[in-house]
Amino acid sequence: MVQENQATITFIQLMKEDLGIFRLLPNDGQIPDFHAGQFITIGLPNPTDNNKVVRRAYSIASHPENKKFVELVIRWVRKPLPGRLTTLLFNAKEGDEIGWLKPAGAALQINEKLPDGSKDERRIICVGGGTGLAPFVSFAQHLHAVNDKREIVVLHGASYVDELSYKDLLTDLEMESLDHGKDKWNFTYRASISRPQEWFNRSWGGQTGRIETFLRPKENGKSPLEELVGEKITKDNTIFYICGWQGTIDGVMDFMKPKDFVTIQNKREDGSFEVKFESYG
Ligand SMILES: Cc1cc2nc3c(=O)[nH]c(=O)nc-3n(C[C@H](O)[C@H](O)[C@H](O)COP(=O)(O)OP(=O)(O)OC[C@H]3O[C@@H](n4cnc5c(N)ncnc54)[C@H](O)[C@@H]3O)c2cc1C
Ligand SMILES: NC(=O)c1ccc[n+]([C@@H]2O[C@H](COP(=O)([O-])OP(=O)(O)OC[C@H]3O[C@@H](n4cnc5c(N)ncnc54)[C@H](OP(=O)(O)O)[C@@H]3O)[C@@H](O)[C@H]2O)c1
Repeated sequence: MVQENQATITFIQLMKEDLGIFRLLPNDGQIPDFHAGQFITIGLPNPTDNNKVVRRAYSIASHPENKKFVELVIRWVRKPLPGRLTTLLFNAKEGDEIGWLKPAGAALQINEKLPDGSKDERRIICVGGGTGLAPFVSFAQHLHAVNDKREIVVLHGASYVDELSYKDLLTDLEMESLDHGKDKWNFTYRASISRPQEWFNRSWGGQTGRIETFLRPKENGKSPLEELVGEKITKDNTIFYICGWQGTIDGVMDFMKPKDFVTIQNKREDGSFEVKFESYG
């Protein structure tokens, strides 16, 4: 029998009709312990199904050191049929109660040690498609909170500019890196807009195309990502974390496999790997 706890939805911010940030506060006031990259399962009774509780997993966007709330970024699924939990959630109000199960998931936890036991100090590249950015918002805030000195690059892919859900927070983290020096906090954030031709995206002057285009070599042989970090990306200097559609994971691997990058699922006999991912179909 699962142990369901109760929380209150304390904050809802809609970025658009079908994309929102939700904050939960457990009713006992205690934010559960978790690792950056994990998800929480939440549930609501479904009135169209005899109030049977419908539960779904959501990546936690807040960081483990934040003991004020658990934050989630959620897409309202509307096609081909309204999603069961997201339709209930997008009809909920601040102050409503919601059930939750304790955070879980190992797929995207930050790798701390190399197979020989030494510290993993490789550059961290996070690739998030859509709401797949959530675990990396947690990564960024966590690594900042613990004063981690590794180089961190967060890449976010979205169809529309109003879906760049954490642009302010991630830009501020990059500004701090520039202001205080990369020896203290080494953080870079970039986004790509996949529908640049649409009128709504006319203000966008950055990278265009799906997020994996950051990895496509240009005529000079370097990818936009390599130009950004200022060196060739190799399996000895970089580890990738990816969250998004399976097409995004495959798109990244199409560029990284020829460079001998392997996923944790296909790790080498010596235990080494360079890619961790969570896919959503
Ligand atoms: C580890 C993990 C982390 C996740 N993190 C996030 C996150 O951070 N943010 C986020 O937005 N989502 C996240 N998800 C996805 C989330 O768990 C849900 O799958 C998603 O919100 C849809 O739930 P739903 O109940 O609204 O849709 P469901 O009701 O489960 O519907 C799923 C699909 O089936 C279709 N459908 C619904 N009813 C029917 C029917 N009767 N017949 C046929 N098709 C139907 C819907 O149109 C939809 O395409 C995550 C999933 C996992 C596994
Ligand atoms: N871990 C998980 O399981 C998890 C996590 C988060 C979200 N989800 C679920 O995934 C669904 C959609 O997520 P979203 O709204 O965040 O994404 P989205 O906004 O639909 O897409 C985000 C980006 O990914 C691109 N994309 C879409 N389909 C793709 C594909 N097949 N291959 C490669 N790239 C693709 C989009 O490009 P285009 O503009 O070209 O479409 C866009 O640039 C939601 O139902 C959400 O609940 C699951």
